Amino acid sequence: MIRISHMTGLLLWSIIMISCKQQHDLILTSPNGQVEINFLLSVEGRPQYTVALDTEMIVDTSGLGLDLRKQPDLLAGFTIDKVIRSTKDETWERPWGETRSVQNHYNELKIFLVGQESRGRRLNIYFRAFDDGLGFRYEVPDQEEVDSLFIISEETQFNIAGDPETWWIKADHDSYEKRFRQTRLSESASLGTPVTMKTAKNSFLSIHEANLTNYACMTLVHQEGSTLLESELAPWPDGVKVKATFPMLSPWRTIQLSKTAGGLIESNLIVNLNEPGRIEDTSWIKPMKYIGIWWSLHLFLETWKAGPKHGATTENAKRYIDFAAANNLQGVLVEGWNQGWDTWLTEDSFDYITPYPDFDPVEVVRYAKEKGIEFIGHQETGGNIPEFEARLDSVIVMYKSLGVHAIKTGYAGKIRVPGQSHHGQFMVDHYRKVVEMAAANKIMVNAHEPIKDTGIRRTWPNMMTREGVRGMEWNAWSKGNSPSHTTIMAFTRMLAGPVDYTPGIFDVTFSNSRDRMPKWDEFKERNLTLRVRTTIAKQLALMVVLYSPMVMAADRIENYEGQPAFQFIRDLDVNWEDQRVLNAAIGEHVTIARKAGNRWFLGSITNEEAREFEVPLDFLEKGKIYRAAIYADASNAHWESNPHAISHVLQTVASDTVLKIRLAPGGGQAIEFKPIDQE
Ligand code: NOJ
Ligand code: CA
Repeated sequence: MIRISHMTGLLLWSIIMISCKQQHDLILTSPNGQVEINFLLSVEGRPQYTVALDTEMIVDTSGLGLDLRKQPDLLAGFTIDKVIRSTKDETWERPWGETRSVQNHYNELKIFLVGQESRGRRLNIYFRAFDDGLGFRYEVPDQEEVDSLFIISEETQFNIAGDPETWWIKADHDSYEKRFRQTRLSESASLGTPVTMKTAKNSFLSIHEANLTNYACMTLVHQEGSTLLESELAPWPDGVKVKATFPMLSPWRTIQLSKTAGGLIESNLIVNLNEPGRIEDTSWIKPMKYIGIWWSLHLFLETWKAGPKHGATTENAKRYIDFAAANNLQGVLVEGWNQGWDTWLTEDSFDYITPYPDFDPVEVVRYAKEKGIEFIGHQETGGNIPEFEARLDSVIVMYKSLGVHAIKTGYAGKIRVPGQSHHGQFMVDHYRKVVEMAAANKIMVNAHEPIKDTGIRRTWPNMMTREGVRGMEWNAWSKGNSPSHTTIMAFTRMLAGPVDYTPGIFDVTFSNSRDRMPKWDEFKERNLTLRVRTTIAKQLALMVVLYSPMVMAADRIENYEGQPAFQFIRDLDVNWEDQRVLNAAIGEHVTIARKAGNRWFLGSITNEEAREFEVPLDFLEKGKIYRAAIYADASNAHWESNPHAISHVLQTVASDTVLKIRLAPGGGQAIEFKPIDQE
């Protein structure tokens, strides 16, 4: 029998009390108490955390810390120096977004760690608990006699409890243009974020990051069969991940949490974890619908480079401007106007300023202004960053003097600096530099092949939209995107922020063009079908579902002319004030209603399955009668065999109407609700 003396017993009891007290003290809960974070220090002094949602363990004990070059690591051997708790509840307004105002309500726990052996070794970890999830970040405070810091590995773990169903893209430090996959977490590969999961108890979580500034992009790795995810940062050529000065603040590591799939879409966690806006006068930043000399290039009907099929001629640009002006579209994008396209994908050396002889930028921009249309300039870099950065000042000056307020940038191909990738710190800094220079000169940015969205639109609201997804273009020249691509995307990529997916293709089988495409024979030989795998009603619905403040009506003018369904695009307003996710099942379907002025628009999409929903219209203003302009899949529509069959009906509805929505396989539905007294 073990005998414990009275004194020893008292001592043991007080140690237990202290450690219990310490653990209890380091629990952080969200304002509604449902999200619970527990911060712990292991026996070795390693910082760790767990996360629970409504008492369900979501993230089991997971390590935190940083490994540094030439300095003692910041992984273990810590004690807690002090802890600061605070609460914030504010509502902020934004110039554009899914909702006009955003509530930012969280409880914060700041933990200041010091090395047990040396008090010079310091690491601060900040947690914020929101009702819709959490964020945590590292701070390495000022260090005596050292001025730079080199992170060789960020050792953040996400030890996911259970083995949730997971929707993911494969990690690649050079591209986000991947097919979405659905597997158990243990069966997935290395992951790009946002990665979204559904637990056995029907809770939803999505891991991502917020405010990626002066740091490298994070992907997640794990051993085959394991659900213990570990952060992996895109490296510099010398293998170092992050080069920083003190104090060093990492991006937030975020976990969005919800009891419903739609709750993830409605979450504002990512923008809330960014800094407030830095642009004082935002009156020049305007959401818009746009068209462009674009799809015809991807279908090889016109060319970026000079020659008989050159797309970016003054005449053609004016034709697009006329069409935009006549059809309530606000912008026109022109690609292939500047010299350099002749060596694209070989030398990738562009002239960012000199136009081809058949394109007169001064005249085109003048004409656009006369018609009230924004000209959207285009700068493809081919990844040649040194060349682009050397010309960046002159590019911005050129657009400023032309009076252009929007540009689309592109980074197709490898980054032409040996050892650099699209997602390393070098490029994170480059993308931000472009946004900040553009902001200083009142220019909005739409970036392709970008760094992923981490919510910096809050700080820099001229960062309108970006690609960072396997967009529409892949349908033009590859195996393309499956009908479920966008029904997964709405719950993964879209949680990061707006997307320039470029929807609105009406001729989804390219009927009048494909035989002229140079690669067509090659595709036929490989038994591949080049086409868009949706109905056209779904193309309309995507304009509502896939949020963007710049929505491209991506097809050619020829394919819009004379089409009754084009009326939806004409009427659409993309300057939203509010949203409702009306139904949602990841990878299967989603229906979202968005408000603009006193009108509402609804988009509903499905994967390969046909569906029928009953949708209560209780989001409409009570007591008002609305005219619903419904663009639905015809009864015999099917993405594969009959994609162009669309029906257009008008119906009178009110907030107590329950609308029946029927979607064809690979289909969708788009509706405009307009108060009748407004007609
Ligand atoms: C890829 C972009 O995603 C696409 O929109 C653009 O047309 C081409 N690069 C050329 O810049
Ligand atoms: Ca692209």
